[in-house]
Amino acid sequence: MVARQCAKRQKKTFKKFDANVTKATLTKNPVFLNHCRMVGMYIGQMVELLDKPVELEMLTHQVAINHLSMKPNVGAAYFDPFQEKFTRFMLETLQKPWDDPLIKAWDKFLMVLTGKVKKSEKMIAKSQKCTVC
Ligand code: HEM
Repeated sequence: MVARQCAKRQKKTFKKFDANVTKATLTKNPVFLNHCRMVGMYIGQMVELLDKPVELEMLTHQVAINHLSMKPNVGAAYFDPFQEKFTRFMLETLQKPWDDPLIKAWDKFLMVLTGKVKKSEKMIAKSQKCTVC
């Protein structure tokens, strides 16, 4: 999918605030800012749980299921480009090379989270498949 179309589709998924506005307008919207705080808080919790694999697994599963339960659902088709864009954003903002340990760590984290979304998506699709027909 063309990058711009993909971004437009991603923005449309947000219902609590209008994401189809300029960056300047969006970053002044308190609902958007609160959303960012929540997302940041979840990421922070995941980082805190890096040495507690069971709890980390539960939290990533919860984030995946929450997004997959949205209507329309936010699955791998959204998380895949997000991983790529987020890494590119970090590279450009921090002016670091691809193999920088910080960039690699974030890319790996988002790869694991996206993998979790994919796994949960497959499990949901399987559970919804009719076994009789
Ligand atoms: C690191 C990855 C992500 C994390 C940790 C995360 C976390 C969250 C959290 C905590 C919320 C609830 C926020 C609230 O109650 O205000 C949320 C909502 C939501 N997220 Fe994510 N998210 C991630 C990636 C994505 C991606 C890639 C998309 C795709 C566009 C997405 C779309 C949404 C939508 C549509 C909502 C509901 C808010 C609304 O309808 O306006 N998220 N997310």
